[in-house]
Amino acid sequence: MLTLDEKFRLIEEKKKQAELGGGEDRIKKQHETGKLTARERLDILLDPGTFNEIDKLVVHRCTDFDMDKKKIPGDGVVTGYGKIDGRLVYVFSQDFTVFGGSLSRTNANKIIKVIDLAMKMGAPVIGLNDSGGARIQEGVQSLGGYADIFYRNVMASGVVPQISAILGPCAGGAVYSPALTDFIFMANHSSYMFVTGPDVIKTVTHEVVSKEELGGAMTHNSKSGVAHFVGEDEEQVLMMIRELLGFIPSNNMEDPPVKTVTDDPEREDPELHDLVPADANKPYDIKKLIVSVADDHNFFEVMPHYAMNIVIGFMRLNGKPVGVVANQPNHLAGVLDIDASIKGARFVRFCDAFNIPLITFEDVPGFLPGTLQEFGGIIKHGAKLLYAFSEATVPKITVITRKAYGGAYCVMSSKHIGADINYAFPTAEIAVMGPDGAVNILYRNKINNEEEKAKIVDEYKVKFANPFKAAELGYIDEIIYPMETRKKLIRALEMTENKTLSNPPKKHGNIPL
Ligand code: HXC
Repeated sequence: MLTLDEKFRLIEEKKKQAELGGGEDRIKKQHETGKLTARERLDILLDPGTFNEIDKLVVHRCTDFDMDKKKIPGDGVVTGYGKIDGRLVYVFSQDFTVFGGSLSRTNANKIIKVIDLAMKMGAPVIGLNDSGGARIQEGVQSLGGYADIFYRNVMASGVVPQISAILGPCAGGAVYSPALTDFIFMANHSSYMFVTGPDVIKTVTHEVVSKEELGGAMTHNSKSGVAHFVGEDEEQVLMMIRELLGFIPSNNMEDPPVKTVTDDPEREDPELHDLVPADANKPYDIKKLIVSVADDHNFFEVMPHYAMNIVIGFMRLNGKPVGVVANQPNHLAGVLDIDASIKGARFVRFCDAFNIPLITFEDVPGFLPGTLQEFGGIIKHGAKLLYAFSEATVPKITVITRKAYGGAYCVMSSKHIGADINYAFPTAEIAVMGPDGAVNILYRNKINNEEEKAKIVDEYKVKFANPFKAAELGYIDEIIYPMETRKKLIRALEMTENKTLSNPPKKHGNIPL
């Protein structure tokens, strides 16, 4: 029989073994490839000294391929709970030094346990992914483990925020769980996501492609739209996750956390006076307006490298987090295309699910015309944004800075689809289409020369390309001066604070996918 001291020593030994993961050599290799270990990552992510580990001594039960001789306590994933800025979060951090962070049945059970706890307690789940996917030695058991996790990701969607960081090569099942979560962060040059890697692709399609090009951080942040954030290194990724959490509530029953601010809610910015150029065809940077109105000029942009014709992200107004959706005249004139519609729609749905009010800045010439867009399904993808804004019941405040043409007027959080307060700058142009297009259709074969056309275009501009008609009809609540945007937004936000609105009861809607 063991003495008490011997029992304590045994526990310490096992804990130490778990903490060493795959051993010194593999930890060294992990560091040499520019990566931190699973535990080092948690140390950076969480408030110091707050991590509580669960299931540290769990081992796999596989006996094939001599696996019974290779058991490491913890089995390739570190799980538990801790705090970020004093708020509870659940975490799992895959350990690449143990069987390449691959997912065994028991390893899956550990992840499932933290997601279940997070759901019960109403706190976010953060997954730090660094995994070769399903543990090949375990066959269908590991596939079952993945499917169980996917199911939980879906059940937790819209209940607690789910955040994924990709911090190594993630393949197969290791990418589908992150894809079901709310936000994906990637570390530049050390993280990869693909369903099948370059070798398989070469065999099947004869395409030759590098790991970086196929599934590197910039591929998914700028081309595929799979990832939402890129950090220069792992530390930056982990810091960005901490920052993101500051804008979002712990669960769908809470309001987002309010921060004490010193920035004057009545602050005006005279520099906004000539932000919007007099020439309607001249671009300008909508981010200048966003940064100007935000508390302490702090805007946390989401997906900054993808579909740059729409800008999304978080800021605070008088301490309260809001989600921003803005057309960007600086990129493709702020037109709505397939990618921008999808990007905007998913963000609107996230904000709505988590009680984050929506601020929309609108300057959009319409949906992008062309066969590429039509064949790609701009109709159904554009409808996603329309659907998302329409079903959102959080406070919705819109500012039309310049163009609000055609269907895009309707889509971008118009009064008709439930916006609570709609402002327009004096430079707003609210019409079925731009003056040139309208005159071309209305006066087809009736205009004799360019001079005549210019005159008619001018007349159209005076009649339609302004905010007055919409203001007369009450579609615009107030025409505001650009410099007072912050003040007006904060007042509207305060006014809508107690908004209660629910959509008709239903199992779920049928968003065009
Ligand atoms: C068991 C694995 C493993 C896995 C890696 N390892 N992936 N062990 N199951 N899935 C082991 C390796 O054998 C190796 O062990 C150690 O982890 C480190 O791996 P390396 O290959 O040396 O590392 P690296 O060169 O960095 O390459 C990483 C990698 C590669 C790109 C992830 O290992 C790889 O391609 N793995 C297989 C990926 C894959 O196809 N997974 C299955 C996907 S299917 P030793 O002891 O030799 O050092 C799937 C099904 C779910 O996930 C689908 C649901 C939709």
